[in-house]
Amino acid sequence: MRLSLRFVLPLLIVLGLIAYAVVPLTDRLMTQWSIKDLDLRSRAIASATETSLFEGTTGQSVPRARMQSILDRMMQDERLYALGFCNARQALTYRTDKLPGEVTCQPQDAETSAFKSEVLELSKGPLHVSYYPLRGSGGVMFGEMILVHDMSFVRTRSESTKQYIVYFFIFMGAIIAIVTVVVAQLSWRGWVSGTRALLHGEGLFRPLSPGAAPELRPIARDLRNLVRDLETGRRFRDDSQTDWTPRTLKELLHKELAGDEVIVVSNREPYLHVRDGERLEVQTPASGVVTALEPIMRACSGTWIAHGGGPADREVVDAKDHLQIPPDHPRYTLRRVWLTEEEENGYYYGFSNEGLWPLCHIAHVRPIFRSSDWETYQRVNEKFARIVVEEAKTEDPVILVQDYHFALLPRLLRQRLPKATIITFWHIPWPNPEAFSICPWTKEILNGLLGSSILGFHTRFHCNNFLDTVERVLECRIDREHSTISFRGERTMVNRYPISIEFPGRLLRQAKSVEEAHKAIHTRYDLPPDRLLGVGVDRFDYTKGIAEKFLAVERLLELHPEWIGRFSFLQIAAPSRTRIDQYQRFQLEVRELRDRINQRFRSGTYEPILLQTSHYEPEDVLEHYRAAELCFVGSLHDGMNLVAKEFVAARDDEQGVLILSQFTGASRDLPEALIVNPYHTDECAEAIHDALTMPSAEQRDRMRNMRGILHDFNTYRWAGRMLIDAARVRARNRFLDRVAMYDLLSPP
Ligand code: G6P
Repeated sequence: MRLSLRFVLPLLIVLGLIAYAVVPLTDRLMTQWSIKDLDLRSRAIASATETSLFEGTTGQSVPRARMQSILDRMMQDERLYALGFCNARQALTYRTDKLPGEVTCQPQDAETSAFKSEVLELSKGPLHVSYYPLRGSGGVMFGEMILVHDMSFVRTRSESTKQYIVYFFIFMGAIIAIVTVVVAQLSWRGWVSGTRALLHGEGLFRPLSPGAAPELRPIARDLRNLVRDLETGRRFRDDSQTDWTPRTLKELLHKELAGDEVIVVSNREPYLHVRDGERLEVQTPASGVVTALEPIMRACSGTWIAHGGGPADREVVDAKDHLQIPPDHPRYTLRRVWLTEEEENGYYYGFSNEGLWPLCHIAHVRPIFRSSDWETYQRVNEKFARIVVEEAKTEDPVILVQDYHFALLPRLLRQRLPKATIITFWHIPWPNPEAFSICPWTKEILNGLLGSSILGFHTRFHCNNFLDTVERVLECRIDREHSTISFRGERTMVNRYPISIEFPGRLLRQAKSVEEAHKAIHTRYDLPPDRLLGVGVDRFDYTKGIAEKFLAVERLLELHPEWIGRFSFLQIAAPSRTRIDQYQRFQLEVRELRDRINQRFRSGTYEPILLQTSHYEPEDVLEHYRAAELCFVGSLHDGMNLVAKEFVAARDDEQGVLILSQFTGASRDLPEALIVNPYHTDECAEAIHDALTMPSAEQRDRMRNMRGILHDFNTYRWAGRMLIDAARVRARNRFLDRVAMYDLLSPP
């Protein structure tokens, strides 16, 4: 009510002011109009009288009797107050009784005299007096007629008009006030109930009721954004306050995601089988994907679908190509997918590793794109899509799609399992739009990836490169603030999730002490106990900077010859993609380089570089990490690089130095490493020297910090953050569906 009054009072004041200004104006106008009317009227009467006055005469004189009778007739007009007649000599020769004494004859002139009028304000009221010159024949001045009208009717008329205007404004004010009060009351009620509804979550999680004020819709939208921001805030709070363990991850899956079915799809399987005579052996492939995901699958169970690439893989699966793993303590199911040689050549060696791999890594190796490989790549992605659907027990599983081998899979799955939560993680870098557009099927790849609910990269830089590529190639809406892409009515969240490792590591519990590991490794490679050791652990791949590391060792020995005979660098290079020409050429070059450098500095049994090109199991690799003084990760370009993190995790003695390429994602997470540019040979040589001479206390400080980071950001947290976001995306999509429904139903 108070609100209404606050609105109505000013309105009434404004109306009053308008009325106050309008009334005198009306008065003046009324008087002017009336004078004009009386002028016309007087002229008309006088002119008619003039005609009858001179009718039948010479126009020089009028008989007195006739004049008297005409003037008498004129006086019958009620509105005429008085009449007078002046002759040519300006003598008032005729007058009615009421003609006021103030009215006198006007001087006349044959040429200039014309009709005149004036208003006389007399005590009895205003009078309109007009003087009409009468001309006889030949235009001779004959005299002048005086017509007097009573103007009191003007005042009466003006008074009534004024009254009418005042009533009109009062009436208008009343109507407007009533309408305003009613509308204000109704809309206030709508606001109150609408706001109440909003505060109860209506409009956020349920559509606003149709009775709610429409102007609340933008507020509902703002509140939704607020909730979203709060959610994001909560996510980070939860994220940093949680101690991330297998149990946390499991709980999260059950609590946040209704469907606790998890399906992982990757090309590389977590365990592969090889036959050694009578014995079946299990191997763990050298792959960052496997390192990060295996602990997660142990925690969450579910199904891991991957290419069965081991030579003895078929021997151990059941009729449905299933196998329970890990072999010693089964926790989840591995579904092996068989590929023909032609499929493997086109999809894995061809499109994935001769095309996308060099395309995404800036390692100066030209990517090769063949149409036949692309066709096979599409077919294999479809094959995996069919198998995922076959394996899914629910309609809304959480599917974790891994890497560049499956760029088309998210879209294929979205079509087949629309309710699934699809989290795709791109483990390798994503280059800038110019570089990526080299790929002839850029559009198809982007469309495929945008079937994901969430798309993850290791670094913000790669996320931005992806957004830029999408922006340039596809017609879509990109929300950079929330890092989402809306494409063809679907939304994909693009986020940074730096991958990590299991920390504390499972294997560390059974690992040999650092001293034992040192002894074991030195014995194994026939090294004297005082030989200082650097290790490198990589797949034998041109992106890993293996040659650059060897050149750095050579330069170290040139710059600091005191290390000759005292330091060796042991490079483990796990065989990889050896069917590809580029890999064969590269591996040959690296061997030649090793030989050249060893030849140069060899003395007795001393060799500065040891190159091991066979497969090492994780326990074995761990032993190398623990035996070395330093670990050198020299990637020319790498999404993350988990070797760096594995080395830090392996050193619970807080000793050892990590030399890390600035072109790895890991260099952002581990700034206490000695960060180097692998192309800068002298800098790398000095870094090795610094590592070998670093005081133990400094090593401890650096290690301690890096281990702290790994403790907080382990692989459970990596997966956990994606799952939390997936839960949010699911909830938000459900909510947006409802809002869209409401917008459809409600009138515009
Ligand atoms: C990189 C890729 C992984 C791949 C791994 C090993 O880390 O991102 O997807 O599994 O290399 O490569 P491979 O070709 O042997 O599976």
